[in-house]
Amino acid sequence: MKIAVFADVHANLEALQTFIEKSASQGVDRYVFLGDCVGYGPNPNECVKRIRQLPGIAMVMGNHDSTAILKTSVYTMNTYAREAMFWTMERLTPETIACLSSLRLRCVEEDICYAHSSPESPEAWKYLNSTSEAFRTFSATRYHISFVGHTHWPRLFSRRKQARIVPEKIRAGKSYVLGGEARHIVNCGSIGQPRDGTCAGSYCLFDDTARTLVFQRFDYDVERTVAKIREAGLPEFLAVRLQKGR
Ligand SMILES: [Fe+2]
Repeated sequence: MKIAVFADVHANLEALQTFIEKSASQGVDRYVFLGDCVGYGPNPNECVKRIRQLPGIAMVMGNHDSTAILKTSVYTMNTYAREAMFWTMERLTPETIACLSSLRLRCVEEDICYAHSSPESPEAWKYLNSTSEAFRTFSATRYHISFVGHTHWPRLFSRRKQARIVPEKIRAGKSYVLGGEARHIVNCGSIGQPRDGTCAGSYCLFDDTARTLVFQRFDYDVERTVAKIREAGLPEFLAVRLQKGR
């Protein structure tokens, strides 16, 4: 089965729509969303509605989703994220709040775990971006593959038996094989707020039979989202960040 794994939409409807169109043309059978539907962007309700409608969707909760429904303190966020979160909270519909409230922190399917942040303690919202952070997760879990989001950086860490952890060089379009004895941590990057130096959205295609993984990038109408952020009165920093991709 071909699965599109995606994360960190952050209320960016233009990026989400482009991702949906591109992935549908790639013959995706089902979707797994790794959290952060809302926060930062101007279309939280529309994005939640579209994500829920995707074929075979499984969703987990992100820290912004958790904050939006008051399960995590907004005062743990930086100034821009907090300002955008107050803007978001004032606009969420009862349907959106009900959907976000229903989300779980972790989704486990056989030997695969899907979570927003670290799979061993997803409620702590830890980052998983370095070899030492990957060591922490490999040591605390037994999953063959862990899919995560949260950092907005595409990443693949592989660990063969108890040997060294290899941070793979990520290349969009290249096929990585996740079979055999090695265990893996995959960060699919962000749909709606990339931070790795490009404004192109990022996701993964995962074939759970062949156990192959391909990172995907896509361009979308960034300037339209930027204009909507400005019209909404959201922080200017968030508009510029989308243009820069960092
Ligand atoms: Fe995020």
